[in-house]
Amino acid sequence: MKFFVDTADVKEIKELAGLGLVDGVTTNPSLILKSGGNIAEVTKQICDIVDGPVSAEVVATEYKEMMREAKILAKIADNVCIKVPLTLDGLKACRDIRSDGRDVNVTLCFSANQALLAAKAGATFISPFVGRIDDTGSDGMELIAEIKQIYDNYDFDTEILVASVRTVNHVKQAALIGADVVTAPPATLRALVSHPLTDKGLAAFLADWAKTGQKIG
Ligand code: G3P
Repeated sequence: MKFFVDTADVKEIKELAGLGLVDGVTTNPSLILKSGGNIAEVTKQICDIVDGPVSAEVVATEYKEMMREAKILAKIADNVCIKVPLTLDGLKACRDIRSDGRDVNVTLCFSANQALLAAKAGATFISPFVGRIDDTGSDGMELIAEIKQIYDNYDFDTEILVASVRTVNHVKQAALIGADVVTAPPATLRALVSHPLTDKGLAAFLADWAKTGQKIG
């Protein structure tokens, strides 16, 4: 399973990449706003750190303008993955951007049928937003299981990129279902390592070690 980090915070990306936790990055207009930077500059900085796919989102809603923006974003670096919304124009753009050999992440997916359409449009990634589904009182992970079954039924190559991840449990459930990728905020990725018994056990080992009076080397 691949780990993408869902942020446009270059400092965070650098730190997490140094820990070997970053297979790719996802950004969106809200995350660019939060970064306080210019989309082209921030995306370039991220691409200089990370070799894997770096999603940068078009903001046009009409096909032709989406294609124009996609061309500009694609020029930033070879690993820029163009993110398009799950609309009819977005799916048409997806098909054409893919035929140029560029990766596409179809975002804002909230149903299995939407995911089916994205796969038929040749999307590299489909991004179902599990946290936002949970917010409405439904179970976001049920959607991941449905998409997994549909993609397996037809051997679609589109990778399931679990997005809007809010908890470490989302990551575990995504892995159990067999999703290809999770994109999570930096704090959630860091939280994956935490367990109180690990902390307790380490403290006990260190206390006993101190009592031996020994040193290694
Ligand atoms: O990158 C899109 C997605 O992960 C957004 O998450 O927390 O704003 O629902 P969130």
